[in-house]
Amino acid sequence: MTDRSFRFTHAITRRPATSIIAGLRAVDTGNPDLALMQAHHADYITTLRAAGATVIELAALEEYPDSVFVEDTALCLSEGAVIMRPGAPSRLGEAAEMAPNLASLYGDLRVIAEPGSFIEGGDILMTETEILVGRSARTNAAGIAELARLTADWGAVVREVHTPPGVLHFKTDCSLMDAETILSTKRLSDSGCFNGYRLIDVAEGEEAAANAIRFNDLVLMAAGFPRTRDRLLAAGYDVREIGNSECAKIDGGMSCLSLRFTPKA
Ligand code: GLY
Repeated sequence: MTDRSFRFTHAITRRPATSIIAGLRAVDTGNPDLALMQAHHADYITTLRAAGATVIELAALEEYPDSVFVEDTALCLSEGAVIMRPGAPSRLGEAAEMAPNLASLYGDLRVIAEPGSFIEGGDILMTETEILVGRSARTNAAGIAELARLTADWGAVVREVHTPPGVLHFKTDCSLMDAETILSTKRLSDSGCFNGYRLIDVAEGEEAAANAIRFNDLVLMAAGFPRTRDRLLAAGYDVREIGNSECAKIDGGMSCLSLRFTPKA
């Protein structure tokens, strides 16, 4: 075990655009406040740096309202990176915008390219031993199969699982906490997809706390979920709470806001 699933040197983020008010959402609870989102975003980046990250901050992309959620554009592994093919038509072009940034960091960049393949990074949970990919409204079987083909010679083990109905992404409902441990909602873990892992359930009524990230020694979680925070603290994690009220209005969370990786030397 190398802890390569949560120990990284780099992160990529993208500044929120003023077009963020047109961001996709399942339920309209009002538009995000850009100034408050920018403040939360700055706090997120400061915390990643405190965890040891070299953070590459990309410029806002006005033509893509959801482009602050860079995680959906790529999967970064130790051996190389794979550019995704987002299933939301308004987000398809975000992947090509990310490619040159990863090409300059990775020698080996591969691309999900089949017209029938759709896959977003938010549906991918990388653990120490496997890559779980949830089929969802954004990720289909063809996308998962293409990812498996593209990464087979890197030794990647891709396992298809299911994102719960009505949930945007697989990682909306779960996060890796360490090599053995996953934070999850009950509705997801009850499917049995995490059998063999140690599980920490988010507190009932705090399902939105499930999307957190572990970056080196820190866990970044959305503020406002005290019972889940206390469970993580009791389990020994060094937790940092980040405001997420504005991203939450357009179904975004901690993992969506960055790509986290260690480029191949
Ligand atoms: N608003 C985030 C997404 O739907 O992709």
